[in-house]
Amino acid sequence: MSKQKVLILGATGHTGESILQGLLKDTESFQEVEALVRPASAEKPEVKKIAEMGVKIHVVDIGGPLDELVNVLTGIDVLISAIDPMGQLAELKLVTAAKKAGVKRFVPCAFITVAPPGGVMTLRDNKEEVYQEIWKQFLPYTVIDVGYWHQLSFPTLPSGRVDYASAFIPKVEIHAGGTAPTMLTDLRDIGNFVALIIKDPRTLNKFVCTYSDALSENEIFAMMEELSGEKIERKHISAEDIIASCVSALAASKAEPENLMAQAMKFIAEYEFSKYVRTDNTPEYAKYLGYLDARELYPEFKPKTFREFLGELFEGKVENPYKRSRN
Ligand SMILES: NC(=O)c1ccc[n+]([C@@H]2O[C@H](COP(=O)([O-])OP(=O)(O)OC[C@H]3O[C@@H](n4cnc5c(N)ncnc54)[C@H](OP(=O)(O)O)[C@@H]3O)[C@@H](O)[C@H]2O)c1
Repeated sequence: MSKQKVLILGATGHTGESILQGLLKDTESFQEVEALVRPASAEKPEVKKIAEMGVKIHVVDIGGPLDELVNVLTGIDVLISAIDPMGQLAELKLVTAAKKAGVKRFVPCAFITVAPPGGVMTLRDNKEEVYQEIWKQFLPYTVIDVGYWHQLSFPTLPSGRVDYASAFIPKVEIHAGGTAPTMLTDLRDIGNFVALIIKDPRTLNKFVCTYSDALSENEIFAMMEELSGEKIERKHISAEDIIASCVSALAASKAEPENLMAQAMKFIAEYEFSKYVRTDNTPEYAKYLGYLDARELYPEFKPKTFREFLGELFEGKVENPYKRSRN
């Protein structure tokens, strides 16, 4: 296969940066990796940083004139979007532009847990609106879901020694008994998986899920205690409480649709409902929904296991995704 030219939207974000790193490593497969940046961000240091890495930057407003987008997308083999959770519907215009430009594969912004469409997770449903637009326009695509990041899946310890990397302090909740297995991928492996998936003809017009492990919260807490030698005082949240949180978060987000915090709280409550009450985010359910399993497609690739991740966490080597320096 000839080398591919790839354009990433969101290359300065968490997921996009992982994808950028994964593609830049594979110079045999990817001829050029370019980034689409909105005008308001053109002067940001993180954009300059990726430009210095040799990434060609296209400054375009994805909500602007269609012709400008089509111009940028012409000649692109693979377009990948890693836009933030609130920005999903801005991708609808990209679908039209990608179709007009003859893009050979669009990877819309999925990169979440496995869940069914239709009222379980608003975030999933927003993404599904984009998938439906892709299907209406007969645009070649691949949807890639990754389970939950390792970086968001470990509990904190009484000593405080892993607080530096945790998005929430304390984080000691066990949901609905803690028995539901949930697929996990290290944020840093998302790009490695994407590099394998987008050059593979078997994944064209398919859904693919990635994971290193499928672990329950009980298993994660036990592993954390074993490796740290500390005892974690668990806070149990029942299935009923999770459902009640979803109902109130949904009401709050409806009452204040412009309030980003209310929207984020709804997304978090619905993740918990889907992962722990419905138990959606498993390899078995992914297969049932029609996903290809990246572990079966690429047995030679060994993603970072959750246990390996915890080893790095105790050595102080994990980056807190929500506190990182972007310079
Ligand atoms: N599986 C998990 O555990 C997990 C965790 C978190 C997120 N996610 C999913 O991963 C996806 C990406 O999230 P993230 O946290 O990686 O995102 P992020 O760090 O917030 O980054 C978003 C990126 O999109 C860019 N962007 C936003 N609006 C844009 C626009 N109109 N035009 C061009 N670029 C734009 C941002 O650039 P600027 O510099 O211009 O803002 C940034 O580069 C989300 O959709 C979310 O659902 C999954």
